[in-house]
Amino acid sequence: MKIKELEIHGKTFLAPLAGITNLPFRRLVKECGCAVVCSEMISAKGIFYNSEKTITLLTSREDEKPLSVQLFGADPESMAQAAAFVEKMGVADIIDINFGCSVKKVVKQGAGVALMKEPRTCEAILKAVRKATNLPFTIKIRSGWDESGRQAFALANIAQETGVNAITVHPRTAVQGFKGLANWDLIKKIKEQLTIPVIGNGDINCVEDAAKMISQTKCDAVMVGRAAMSNPYLLSQIENYMTSGTYQEPKLYEIFRKMERLIELYLAYFGEQHGVRMLRGRLPWFIKGLPGSSAFRKVLAQITTSDQALALIREYENPAYNQQ
Ligand SMILES: Cc1cc2nc3c(=O)[nH]c(=O)nc-3n(C[C@H](O)[C@H](O)[C@H](O)COP(=O)(O)O)c2cc1C
Repeated sequence: MKIKELEIHGKTFLAPLAGITNLPFRRLVKECGCAVVCSEMISAKGIFYNSEKTITLLTSREDEKPLSVQLFGADPESMAQAAAFVEKMGVADIIDINFGCSVKKVVKQGAGVALMKEPRTCEAILKAVRKATNLPFTIKIRSGWDESGRQAFALANIAQETGVNAITVHPRTAVQGFKGLANWDLIKKIKEQLTIPVIGNGDINCVEDAAKMISQTKCDAVMVGRAAMSNPYLLSQIENYMTSGTYQEPKLYEIFRKMERLIELYLAYFGEQHGVRMLRGRLPWFIKGLPGSSAFRKVLAQITTSDQALALIREYENPAYNQQ
């Protein structure tokens, strides 16, 4: 599949996840194997006003490429300037616009999924961003505000007409948030309507879900969010399954090595103090459901250094590893 001239080697996208798909986590998932990683959503206004905190979110590394940088905002001018700035920085291979975020803070600004009620503003944003950048340009949408899916069809058409190069569909309404099931049938219908690539998203929890979404909707690629948080191997498992028809479950010791790698990546990016604080919440994802994981989480909540985190992993690993 191609997004503009960019050849995508594979069928998997790591979803943008605010507060989670930072540089260290993206690198971890990329090292496991996936086609494209996405940044968390980044405020176009923050870039426009040169906010240091926002600009830091644009840090990238060659080894995570290709990177899709997602922008959110409600105003065509700042969105266009932000897209031009990102292109000039040379960090992004793809610019993505968020039309799906249902978080109150974002919706209140008229951004994210709120835009799906305003097709004329959407069109103005898409035209302005398309004019401002030559980068491959994608959008990520929901079904819309209500169950009809009409807003999704309308926006998908506007996007294709204004020169957007691919579209990700998370088929849940704004009101649904993350509740209920994603309506994969909407992905199928949008795919039938468009000629640009369609990336399907929502409720892929295992390899078989991804295969089912592709066969049911004929989408060109899949995007995985929440399930990748506890299994960074999932996207590479999907890639393997798509190319060879088989995939492997990671061994326990491989999961522990990945936890250690995440510690290393977090420290390199956030520094010891901030990195360790964040890791307290992140590391338990990897052993969710395994015996002793809640005790692990409780001890981890008390740690203050990365050495303590590493020692805890080793301590936790021994009995579990020996049971294999
Ligand atoms: C914690 C969290 C943060 C998210 N942040 C973003 C974001 O920054 N941009 C975006 O487009 N979607 C965001 N999403 C939505 C996901 O990208 C994805 O569309 C949704 O989780 C459905 O996919 P999944 O079932 O694979 O998780 C977020 C979701 C979660 C749970």
